[in-house]
Amino acid sequence: EDAALAARFQERVDAEERIEPNDWMPEAYRKTLTRQISQHAHSEIVGMLPEGNWITRTPSLRRKAALLAKVQDECGHGLYLYAAAETLGTAREELVDQLLSGRAKYSSIFNYPTLTWADIGAIGWLVDGAAIMNQIPLCRCSYGPYARAMIRVCKEESFHQRQGYEIMVTLARGAPEQKAMAQDALNRWWWPCLMMFGPPDGDSQHSDTSTKWKIKRFSNDELRQKFVDATVPQARFIDLTLPDPDLRLNPETGHWDYGTIDWSEFKQVLAGNGPCNRDRLAARRKAHDDGAWVREAALAFAAKRRARAAA
Ligand code: ACO
Repeated sequence: EDAALAARFQERVDAEERIEPNDWMPEAYRKTLTRQISQHAHSEIVGMLPEGNWITRTPSLRRKAALLAKVQDECGHGLYLYAAAETLGTAREELVDQLLSGRAKYSSIFNYPTLTWADIGAIGWLVDGAAIMNQIPLCRCSYGPYARAMIRVCKEESFHQRQGYEIMVTLARGAPEQKAMAQDALNRWWWPCLMMFGPPDGDSQHSDTSTKWKIKRFSNDELRQKFVDATVPQARFIDLTLPDPDLRLNPETGHWDYGTIDWSEFKQVLAGNGPCNRDRLAARRKAHDDGAWVREAALAFAAKRRARAAA
């Protein structure tokens, strides 16, 4: 690769200029962005499954309307993230194929089950809360199409987070059984949410280059800490207990110290052995197969229109 082009590219990144699809970029930059954006898109799409599971069982019509809208938002996020990834030169079909064949990663968090209605509250509050923490800095990512997609995604995630927290507030202030259900959901989702931010900084193989290229603005551990600091007061406000006996405010740093994360669980989930990995991929494969006729019809229609335009 031309060293002068590479130097010019880094200068543009350092000057906070946005890199656009037709601009010169190092192959490794293209590759890591395609990796990250497509993993992100897959996460949005697979992320519809745990919550979609509750659409038919919401406690009220109002909750159903909000949950339906939220799950549809996730689908929209997936679609414009695939579009952003395609601007880097890989076709959507190829990216989807990587997911369905099990070659691509998607967020570990979506391999956990949603056992009760309180899980829908916990997901909105914690999973979407963690997603916002990670995605707000991505609005300033050096790659233009990804950064712009993130602006809208973050606005919608913020609504998702509020609807989730509001479910938790309602349950926590309800009957003792409801409060216990909220606490149980928090107990199950807390540690997997901390894992969402990725491996500890020392083990994060992409962090150095992604930081240099201003894809990443904060490290995995920095974002994890921000999330803990933001969430502790929210849990206290509704009188729920975070399931971590080592959690304590560090008077020197002003941050909440937390206990040890079980990284062996994270590795197991990434290896395909989480509680729901097989179900999630099976559901996506079925949806893809069931939708084959729609793709065929759209292609046939496009061909007919082209033929008519040419005639
Ligand atoms: N789940 C699954 N895989 C993960 C996770 C996770 N929670 N965290 C890290 N990984 C993977 C990385 O993708 C990478 O794998 P790869 O080399 O096969 O691609 C490996 O673990 C090592 O991690 P890092 O070197 O730290 O990877 P990276 O620098 O890309 O940082 C991060 C990981 C923070 C997730 C980054 O990719 C990112 O910010 N992605 C965009 C946000 C996103 O995808 N969110 C999805 C969940 S939010 C939602 O959908 C509601």
